[in-house]
Amino acid sequence: MHWTRSLAIIAAAAITLGTGTLKAAAQESSSATNEKNWWRNAVFYEIYPRSYADANNDGIGDLKGITAHLDYLKDLGVDAIWLTPIYPSPQVDFGYDISDYVAIDTQYGTMADFDRLMAEANKRHIRVLMDMVMNHTSDKHKWFLQSRSSKTNPYRDWYVWHDGKGETATDKGQPPNNWQSVFGGSAWEWDDKTRQYYYHKFYTQQPDLNWNNPKVRQAFKDVIAFWLKKGVAGFRFDAITTLFEDPNLTDEGVVKDKNGNPEIRNGEPVLDNSKTDNLPEVHDVMAEMRAESDKFSTEKYPGTRVFIGETYLPNIAELLKQYGTPEKPEFHLPMDTQILLINKMDASAFRAKLEDAESELGSNVPLFVFDNHDNPRLDARYGDGVHDTDIQRVISTVLFANKGAALFYQGDEIGMKTTPPARKEDVKDPVGLRFWPAYKGRDGERTPMQWTSGPNAGFDSASAKPWLPVPSNNSTINVLAEKSDPKSLYSWYHSLIQLKKTNAAFAEGNDTMLDRNNKNVLSWKRQAAGAPPVIVCANFSAEPQSVDLVSQGIPEGAITTLLKTPGASDPSTLKHINLGPYGVYIGQLQFMISH
Ligand code: NOJ
Repeated sequence: MHWTRSLAIIAAAAITLGTGTLKAAAQESSSATNEKNWWRNAVFYEIYPRSYADANNDGIGDLKGITAHLDYLKDLGVDAIWLTPIYPSPQVDFGYDISDYVAIDTQYGTMADFDRLMAEANKRHIRVLMDMVMNHTSDKHKWFLQSRSSKTNPYRDWYVWHDGKGETATDKGQPPNNWQSVFGGSAWEWDDKTRQYYYHKFYTQQPDLNWNNPKVRQAFKDVIAFWLKKGVAGFRFDAITTLFEDPNLTDEGVVKDKNGNPEIRNGEPVLDNSKTDNLPEVHDVMAEMRAESDKFSTEKYPGTRVFIGETYLPNIAELLKQYGTPEKPEFHLPMDTQILLINKMDASAFRAKLEDAESELGSNVPLFVFDNHDNPRLDARYGDGVHDTDIQRVISTVLFANKGAALFYQGDEIGMKTTPPARKEDVKDPVGLRFWPAYKGRDGERTPMQWTSGPNAGFDSASAKPWLPVPSNNSTINVLAEKSDPKSLYSWYHSLIQLKKTNAAFAEGNDTMLDRNNKNVLSWKRQAAGAPPVIVCANFSAEPQSVDLVSQGIPEGAITTLLKTPGASDPSTLKHINLGPYGVYIGQLQFMISH
């Protein structure tokens, strides 16, 4: 039942009936609040469907494969799954080049498979979020096919077309300016038929839509409504900060290195993206989409529909803007990618970002995220090759034991490792082919989910060749083995998620950083009204460390261990919380203290 409706029923019933009804009404009211606020402390899990589970054994993951693993996700404590794009697509960018926004790619299944996934997820109280790619379509989308067919076609203005520089009847001249594609080379592609350039922030096969055109806005409102009517719980908005470009086509600035020379990456100058990223007009679009979405609710799938943003932004002030205002809300949960990009075990840097989130976001809810299908996995960015599992315990502690919602990527929970292609001829991601071997693309973080130690890691039934090779470390890194090992990384994730759900300080408490000058240990307090605080200490170094909480203003007293890394002992005094290399200690004080 939708929460507003259930509140009305409670009010009517409470007037006419006695205390039994009031108790039932209170329960219903609390479930209504849950429906409204479910996302605020939620655990989101990113599924890359192509690599999750292959039920029809063709080497490519599919919707039936995801449905078959919903019990696994339920058991892990996941509240919602975000599916990267499953719409029909030529698959140049593995689904991020969409040719039809209201259908399912046959590689992943049918609309009936999707409906069944929704129904089964709903039974388990797992919500489903779709990926919404509004910056660009595939060049095979019917809108673009129309748009490129003639300069007078009604769809011409749905995309970003411009004349070149110095163009003549026989010469295409130069692209309109210096703008570059994220995937390398000019962001302008010449189209011979109508003799103009079109703009593409990503691959050539991903032309950018023209968001100044009201028809484009309406088309996406319709797409959003289509999926909301199907009961999805929200969307992750792809590349959302890149919707608009400078209408004057001004050149981007060139980033300088520390010697004042143009910075070069992969053979190309690094541009500042000031003319093609994070332009203010995007806020209006998001407020408009949000208003449209907020209108939707159904009996079958009640509760708030959530907007998550792929928001790579330079600082917390820019992140704050993505939430919008109470009158004109935009995202519920723009991703805080500041912390994702620290890319080293630096306690001081983590502390600074967490303090930013605590002090600068007001009553907005932070969404922390450390990993996704576009970045090398955690081992490659944070590991030292010796303590990788311990380091992943530290990172996941920061993720789940801080305030807000948490998002993680399939396979993080078992410590899957980045496995880039060994040979150029094996590369599937076009950007890896372009920049080989300096950059090998994103295949390394997209290898199949490792379910078992058996053939193809249980991704398929082993007679098909998975689209990317299964790393041989599935002999030890796999769901089956880790689920039955209380010391595994999986068990650590499971325990942290349980704490996040069941402990009042974790579910609702504010964060206060402790021991703020400590370069090795990140310590913080979570405190909710009416509950004793929880203390978290995480060692960011390979050396043993000891933390004195009493010197941090915590009175000496009893503490009960909630969770600690394997081999750690319970502290006998708050003056010495002893931590092994990359060790973590989480304990609940047995007494109240003032905030
Ligand atoms: C971000 C997506 O996560 C990435 O995989 C994709 O290539 C780009 N956006 C373009 O859609």
